[in-house]
Amino acid sequence: SDLDLDKCYQTILTLVDEAGKIVASRNSERKSYEQKSGDIDLLTVTDKEVEKLLIDRIKADFPSHKFIGEEGSSSGESKCVLTDDPTWIIDPVDGTMNFVHSFPHSCISVGLFVNKVPEIGVIYNPMLNQKFTARRGKGAFYNGNPVHVSGEKELSKALITSEFGSSRDPEKMQVVNENFQNLSKIIHGFRILGACALDMSMVAIGAADACYEMGIHIWDIAAAILIVREAGGVAIDPSGGELDVMSRRCLVAASPELAAAIAKNLKQYYPKPRDDEC
Ligand code: IPD
Repeated sequence: SDLDLDKCYQTILTLVDEAGKIVASRNSERKSYEQKSGDIDLLTVTDKEVEKLLIDRIKADFPSHKFIGEEGSSSGESKCVLTDDPTWIIDPVDGTMNFVHSFPHSCISVGLFVNKVPEIGVIYNPMLNQKFTARRGKGAFYNGNPVHVSGEKELSKALITSEFGSSRDPEKMQVVNENFQNLSKIIHGFRILGACALDMSMVAIGAADACYEMGIHIWDIAAAILIVREAGGVAIDPSGGELDVMSRRCLVAASPELAAAIAKNLKQYYPKPRDDEC
C-alpha cells in the first residue's frame, strides 16, 4: 500500500496541538453539556467540535481512511466498524466529566490502526502539557523523552489506576465496587484520574503499575494500548485472555505477572452492547 505512516504521524501531531489549544482555552469555564448513555455520560460542544476538526482535516490529507469517533459512534451517526483499512480511532475529549468541572485531567486520544493493528498512538492533555506518543516498534515517549513501564510484578506492591466509569447500571456498579474493595486490601493503592487514556498513560511512564476498566470503549484505549506496549507493558483482557478491542474491557500492566495476578483477583463484567454491536 502507499500508506505513509511518517506523514500520518506528523499530521496527527500538528492536529492535536491545534485541537489542544481549543480544549485548553475552554477548560477554566464551567461547561454546559448533554447526556449520552446516562446522566454521568456527558457530551459538550467542544467534544463535537474537536472530533469534527480532527476528522475533517485527516480526511483532507487521507481521503480513503476510515474513522471511529466517540461522538459519531455514540450518537449513532456512524457505525463502530474496524476493517483492515487505515482507521483513525478518536476520543476528542477523554475525561469529559473532568472537562465540565475544569478538573485538569482530560485529553485528546487518537490511535491509527492498519490491518487491525495499532500503528500510531497520541494522547495529549493540553491543560498540564502532557503528551504521550508511540509508533509500533519505535518505543513510547512522554513529551519527547523515551519512557518505560515500572516492571513491577507483585500485586502487593502495585499502584493501580481505574475508574468508577460512566454508567450507573446497578449490576456494573456492584462489580466495580467489589473489585475496588477486594483489591484495595492487597495492593499499594488505587488512583482515579477520571480519564481512561491518562490512567493508562501513567502505566506507560512507570508512575502506576497497572490499569483496568470494564465499560470503556475502543476510543478510550486505542492510543493507550500501543503506548503501554511500546513502553514494555502488556495490554490484555481483564480475565487474563487476549485483548478484544471491541469488548469494552481492558487491563494494562507493567509486567505479564502483575497482569495475571490482577486478572485472577477481578470479578468479571461484560458490558453490553459491545462496541461492534451498536
Ligand atoms: C470516559 C472516561 C472515564 C471512564 C469511561 C470513559 P469520556 O471517557 O475515560 O474516566 O471511566 O469509561 O468512557 O466519555 O470522558 O470520553
